[in-house]
This record gives sequence, structure tokens and C-alpha cells, in this order.
Amino acid sequence: MIYYAVLCALLTTPLILKIYLKLRTKWCRSPKCLIGKTTIITGANTGIGFETALNFAKRGARVILACRDPKKAETARQKIISESENQNIFVKIVDFASFESIRGFAKSVHETENRLDILVNNAAVACEGTQKTHDGFYLGMQVNYLSLFLLTNLLLDLMSKSGPGRIVNVSSIMAKTALFFNPDNLRSYYGDVDMYSRTKLCIILFTQQLARKLQNTQITTYSLHPGAVKTEIFRHLTGFNLLVSAIIKFFFAKTPGEGAQTNIYCSVERNIEKFSGQHFEECRKVATYPNARDASVGERLWRVSEELVKLKEEEKFQFGA
Ligand SMILES: NC(=O)c1ccc[n+]([C@@H]2O[C@H](COP(=O)([O-])OP(=O)(O)OC[C@H]3O[C@@H](n4cnc5c(N)ncnc54)[C@H](OP(=O)(O)O)[C@@H]3O)[C@@H](O)[C@H]2O)c1
Repeated sequence: MIYYAVLCALLTTPLILKIYLKLRTKWCRSPKCLIGKTTIITGANTGIGFETALNFAKRGARVILACRDPKKAETARQKIISESENQNIFVKIVDFASFESIRGFAKSVHETENRLDILVNNAAVACEGTQKTHDGFYLGMQVNYLSLFLLTNLLLDLMSKSGPGRIVNVSSIMAKTALFFNPDNLRSYYGDVDMYSRTKLCIILFTQQLARKLQNTQITTYSLHPGAVKTEIFRHLTGFNLLVSAIIKFFFAKTPGEGAQTNIYCSVERNIEKFSGQHFEECRKVATYPNARDASVGERLWRVSEELVKLKEEEKFQFGA
């Protein structure tokens, strides 16, 4: 009898968990139409970025897929066009592992676009080890945070000319685990998990500081955790970590479409401007993580980031001008 009970529990627990997670997942219900709006989504060829781009396309936006791989990007573009029946979908190639590429991408955006309404900073890598970029940084730090910092700064002038705009920065709950964070240590490596967590904390601190700087403008900004989502983000995991990730994916992960909902919410939901700089999960504002509450750390991070990406005077946005 006891064996039957154990067997039953083993078989039904995953099902109950899945039903619970489905019920807990919040959907962005905003009917907002994006016809006439221009949007950029980084890392839009797959996962959460792809689903965000598809949603914007269905809302009628002009969508720029900012991707590093031309083939994957074109496949995604075709899929979005066929699913949304929106022809206004474009690819621009950018490699977040190169500041030169980010500057080239921003220049190209300025050349072809006369407005920018929504920027979703979504591209990221995880568990890339100690690989370094040509600019001399660990890949994770440059792709996930430094390039996001640079790109956002380079696009602020175009956004400010376009009326109300939103910058949505995809972080992670992993940011909570980045203890003893020091903005002067962005060149250090203490392991893959720590690297990912620190980059995601940088994104939250950056979002808060950007919001402070953007006060009195029409641009607002938000950071978010999309939840655990079945995507390719942990493609480089091996051994035990791969097993843990597979278990999490199987039992707890959302579909990419579900994972994109908070991106979409922060991009289109009405009346959230008053929450600029805040962090979101499950389509709602949540309390700031304890390690992201010191504004002076955000200020310091901004100054360090400007130096590391070598932001030129002429590239700096005139906040408050
Ligand atoms: N999945 C989760 O459980 C989870 C949880 C918390 C937070 N997040 C965050 O959600 C965001 C989206 O991740 P995802 O889960 O959808 O992962 P994903 O499927 O791996 O998508 C990541 C995207 O970033 C792009 N990318 C990576 N390196 C790049 C580079 N050097 N230059 C330009 N683009 C680059 C990838 O392009 P390629 O396809 O060419 O590699 C891909 O399009 C990330 O910021 C991630 O940290 C995800």
C-alpha cells in the first residue's frame, strides 16, 4: 500500500507543480497598439527576446532585431513576419562582445531611424568561463552589462527626441546572490555563477541610476526578472550543473512566451511611469533586492562604467539639458 502511495506522490507532484506554476504566471493584458512606434530588442533571435519582438510585431510596431548571428536573425525575422503579418521587421547585426560593434550599431540606428520608443536590453550570456573579449573584459561582464550600458547611452538622444520612451533592462533574481558587490571590481572573475549574478546586479543598479538621471524627461526605465524560463541561456553548462538546470527546466520553468510577459508589461503597460527605476517580476513591481538599495553604489558604478567603455564627451547624453 505504502509503495502505491509513494508512486502516486511521485507521479502527481510534477503535475501539481506545473499546474501551480501555470496559475502563478502573470500575463500582460495591456491592449496597447504600437503602430507608429519603433522598438529595438537585443538578443531577439531566440528565447525571451524573440517572444518580446513577436509581441511588439503583433501590436504593429516597427521592430529592430538586434542580433549577432545574421542567419539566426533572418530566420527569426521571417518567423515573426509570418506569425504577425507585420512586414515592418528589420535585422541589425551587433555583437555585444565588442564596443566597436555597439558603436557601429548605434550609428546605424541613427542613420536609418528617426525615432526610438522602446529599447529592450535583453541579450545575455551565462557560464562563459574566463573567456575575454578584444576589449579586455570577461565575456559575461561585457555582453551582459558593459555593452548594455554603452548602447543605452548612445541611443538616449534619439529616444529623447521621440516623446515618451521606455528602456527595459532584463536582469535576474540571481542578482540577489551577488553579495559584497564592488563597482571597482568589474574586471574580476570569481566563478561563472558569481559573474552572472554580478552582471545582473549591475543592470538593476544601472536602471535605478538611469531613472534618477532621467527624472524630468519623458523616458522611463525598468529592470526585471523574467522567472525561470526554458531557453538556451545555460547552453554551456556541463556535468552536475547541467543536471540541476535540466531538473529546474523540467519542473519549474516557463515557456519563452510566458517568460516574455514582464518584458512586455514594462514596455507597454499604462501608468507605470511613476515606478521608473524599479524592479519587476510577474508583471508587478517588487521590492528592491537588499543588495541594490545603496544609491551611492549606483552612482559609483555609473562613473566606473563610463571609464571602462571609454564613453567620449560627445557620446554623453545631456541629462537635464
Ligand atoms: N532563461 C531564464 O531562465 C532566465 C532567467 C533570468 C533571467 N534571464 C535573462 O533573460 C534574458 C534573455 O535570455 P534567454 O533566457 O531568452 O536566453 P537565450 O535564449 O540564450 O537568449 C539570449 C540572447 O542573447 C544573445 N546574445 C548572446 N551573446 C550575444 C552577443 N555577444 N551579442 C549579441 N547578442 C548576444 C543570443 O544570441 P545567440 O542566439 O546568437 O547566441 C540570444 O539571442 C537574458 O538577459 C537572461 O539573462 C533568463
